[in-house]
Amino acid sequence: VFKEHSALMSKNTYAKKEAFITYNYHSIEKGFLHKPIRCRFAQKKIIELLSDLKNIDIRQFKEKVQIQAALLNLKNYYEFHENQKQDISDYFSVNDYLWIKNHLIKDYTSNIVEKEHEYFSNSNSNFYDFSTSRHSIRSYSGEKISNSLLKKVVRLANNAPSVCNRQSISVYVLENKEKIDKLVELQGGLKGFSNNLNQIIILMGNLNSFFWIGERNQVYVDGGIYLMNLLYALHYYKIAACPAHWAMPVEADEKMGKLLDLPQSIKIISLIAIGFPEKEFSRTLSLKRDEDENLKIIH
Ligand SMILES: Cc1cc2nc3c(=O)[nH]c(=O)nc-3n(C[C@H](O)[C@H](O)[C@H](O)COP(=O)(O)O)c2cc1C
Repeated sequence: VFKEHSALMSKNTYAKKEAFITYNYHSIEKGFLHKPIRCRFAQKKIIELLSDLKNIDIRQFKEKVQIQAALLNLKNYYEFHENQKQDISDYFSVNDYLWIKNHLIKDYTSNIVEKEHEYFSNSNSNFYDFSTSRHSIRSYSGEKISNSLLKKVVRLANNAPSVCNRQSISVYVLENKEKIDKLVELQGGLKGFSNNLNQIIILMGNLNSFFWIGERNQVYVDGGIYLMNLLYALHYYKIAACPAHWAMPVEADEKMGKLLDLPQSIKIISLIAIGFPEKEFSRTLSLKRDEDENLKIIH
């Protein structure tokens, strides 16, 4: 079923095309976070993105948030190179740029520069402002978060609901820089952001907590819920965080098992890079869907 309905083998639905478009524009928004920004970065992704966007019925789908976000990132990419006086016409033409501008409905800045105190100004606010103000932060000062603060974070995150309160999830904090670097290398998604990364959470679930076949994926459901509450707890205590997937092949699980001496009953839910942020840092805009795109009321 996964083979048939995921975007693994074909791009034969709008949703599959949108997944690729999102994957590629997200790489571009992350590319803009690097200091310095590398000229002509992510060329292959730009070519793919332009081709994928031209392969959908742009008039029908241009109001979708992910399409607007893709167009926006491409526009910024072009303008960044124009400002740098860097020729990219071999893979991104002026006609492509005009086509993009023509379909862009709203104009946003794709990456936002934040000051630390402003970024956390809503971390004790009402839930609406609190939730809206949390973002993935990939820029850390290097200062260590104390054990006592980590305990407070986990105490708060432990409020997460779980199936019959079985609470299968544990929070491991890795502080060994050599092992952190190995893990970042193995996982791939945090590459380029780990210079001052001195602590990384490995969120784990224990299969021992589940007892029938219907629960075979429950560790990931409970893990996902816990992950969100943990991200909120980190935000509440003014700690910058970026979750990093563990959608990895079996060999990576084995390497992780060896690195941390884990039994096979332990499943990795996610990694989370954590740290205090730099005084000033950039983050991605990460536009969210309008509710009309994913709220369906069934009568
Ligand atoms: C399960 C999961 C895995 C993620 N993996 C990565 C990753 O490997 N590298 C990365 O830089 N960001 C990763 N992210 C962060 C997403 O890119 C980010 O949540 C998304 O772009 C939305 O931005 P926001 O968190 O600021 O709302 C991950 C997020 C989640 C929830």
